[in-house]
Amino acid sequence: MSSVAVINSADDATTLAKANTLLTPRFYRTNNDAFDQIDLAPVREEFDVLMAEFTRDTNRNHFERNDEFTAQIRELPPALRQEFLDFLISSVTAEFSGCVLYSDIKRKVKNQDIRDLMGYMARDEARHAGFINQSLKDFGLQVDLGFLRRDKKYTYFTPKFIMYATYLSEKIGYARYISIYRQLERNPDKRFHPIFHWFERWCNDEFRHGEAFAILMRAQPKLLQGFNVWWIRFFVLAVFATMYVRDHARPELHGALGLDATVYDYEVFRITTECTRQVFPITLDLDSPVFRAGLDRLAAISVATAAARSQGGLSGLLKRAGLAVQAALVFGRLYFLKPQANALPEMVRMAPVW
Ligand SMILES: [Fe+2]
Ligand SMILES: [Fe+2]
Repeated sequence: MSSVAVINSADDATTLAKANTLLTPRFYRTNNDAFDQIDLAPVREEFDVLMAEFTRDTNRNHFERNDEFTAQIRELPPALRQEFLDFLISSVTAEFSGCVLYSDIKRKVKNQDIRDLMGYMARDEARHAGFINQSLKDFGLQVDLGFLRRDKKYTYFTPKFIMYATYLSEKIGYARYISIYRQLERNPDKRFHPIFHWFERWCNDEFRHGEAFAILMRAQPKLLQGFNVWWIRFFVLAVFATMYVRDHARPELHGALGLDATVYDYEVFRITTECTRQVFPITLDLDSPVFRAGLDRLAAISVATAAARSQGGLSGLLKRAGLAVQAALVFGRLYFLKPQANALPEMVRMAPVW
């Protein structure tokens, strides 16, 4: 069953983008001093190569619509249309969240290397958000990004958490975009909207953003050792579980793309996990039957929670409270599953080979 919100107007779109739930993309602020204090000496060579790539800016002209793009826009069946809009709105919010965070850090730090890096990444995310917003505009649903920047609630994360969470969201963003692109390369008849055709070069930006955070974390080895490994386990699981639950609420979208949400999500987890070998000392055991059953249980609990919410009243509220406890227990069980150890490679950088 689809459980996405009904979206009929530009106001609905902005309201949905502004909402903060466990599953929607958030806006972040952090303590920027920590970014000033990063000593890049241990990773200088790889950092400079990365910055040269940002300067070359090979995607400068990529995020422009052409006649080919507009010619492929067509009417969608109502249920698919709703889920696709939900997908576009959460994507534009996530892209813009990166833009807001990176430009905020750039504005506040003094370290010139970090300023330049954040400036490049904010540039890319602004392009990505603007490009998605153009497609929302076709549906009469442009999200008001200026309003969002002013009025959406900000979540404070320590710099350490920003590193883990942003690194993961960049790499999982890459894995999501490239998996959809490859699927549609094999099945061009399933490409129901031209935006998917832009994903290949687009995802290389996300990959590179992930590389930047990998390098920043490898410059601070303490972030990757000791008790922090428990935090890494938490963030990897939280990011994977959120994606799994959200994707399983969009059956029409995945059906139209010819994707099974479970197969697609595990492919994305596999790619993301391969990426994280450059920086995290553990990987989650994706083949564990307990892990797989746990994620299915979380998706089922989320569907039941949406049903209880629309039921309303005291019994609906009690049901939701019970389901929240169950979800916390399942999450806890998954959290304590034994991860697999990973030895970090000498060089940080990886190539986007998927
Ligand atoms: Fe992006
Ligand atoms: Fe990005």
